[in-house]
Amino acid sequence: MSSAVPASETYQLGHHPSVVARHARRTAETAAAFILPFLKPGMRLLDVGCGPGSITSGFAQRVAPGEAIGIDTSADVIEMARSLAGATTARNLTFEVGSIYEPRFAAGTFNAVFAHQVLQHLRRPVDALRQMRALLAPGGVLGVRVVDWGSTIFYPESEGMCRFLALHFDLASRNGAEPNAGRHLRRWFREAGFGETRVTTATESDADAHATRERGRCSPSAPCGPAPTTRCFWRPSCRGRCGRSSTASLVRRAGPSRCRGNKRVYRFAKG
Ligand SMILES: C[S@@+](CC[C@H](N)C(=O)[O-])C[C@H]1O[C@@H](n2cnc3c(N)ncnc32)[C@H](O)[C@@H]1O
Repeated sequence: MSSAVPASETYQLGHHPSVVARHARRTAETAAAFILPFLKPGMRLLDVGCGPGSITSGFAQRVAPGEAIGIDTSADVIEMARSLAGATTARNLTFEVGSIYEPRFAAGTFNAVFAHQVLQHLRRPVDALRQMRALLAPGGVLGVRVVDWGSTIFYPESEGMCRFLALHFDLASRNGAEPNAGRHLRRWFREAGFGETRVTTATESDADAHATRERGRCSPSAPCGPAPTTRCFWRPSCRGRCGRSSTASLVRRAGPSRCRGNKRVYRFAKG
């Protein structure tokens, strides 16, 4: 088994429906509230790594009659974004395949650039931020939100979740990515040449039945009973990732010992 970082970057979560359905529930209000006060009608906005585009769609409403463009390296997810957006018939909203490492847009052509839960998957987050910076017009604003998986707390203790997180960290480090991206963000911005930065933090919590039920709604395969538990969400989510998404194929590529670990996690997820 080789622990060498593979030559090409892999988006670890992949675009299995179990993953994309959860992303598609995000909105500009729930995932990007911190940048909304900076958006004005008439702006041109780029959403980097837009996934199924539900956040981009909210941006399009805010910047109309300006334009919102979502880019993503995955042709499949861009197809989904287009079909979901078809329902809204927003004329100022477009999606296209593209990588932030090699944007096709001219420098200085966006008033706002945004990336939600993307940088933690990249091997070269500072290069990506440099590209985003170059795309900004004078006075433009960049909004980035990333996870910090190392700050996750579960109670009661769950051996299965510990294994799931260990697996997630292991695969990310093999891929050259940074699951603790949150704590690195300010430094990455500095290294990318940004002067003024504002940092805020948000905590997502499943501390009560209502919160858990809401999160569980992200997972149609996990109907919550009258007294939902965090497992209602996390179990099918882990099951989807470990059993069917790109995580599964990354584990297979990593080698047999990882596969055994994955089976144990998968068993937890199946219950
Ligand atoms: C965790 S998803 C987030 C999707 C969306 N922003 C959201 O929050 O719902 C990360 C997305 O970034 C995309 N991505 C990964 N590397 C990229 C790159 N170099 N350029 C653009 N998109 C990229 C992936 O294909 C994936 O759809």
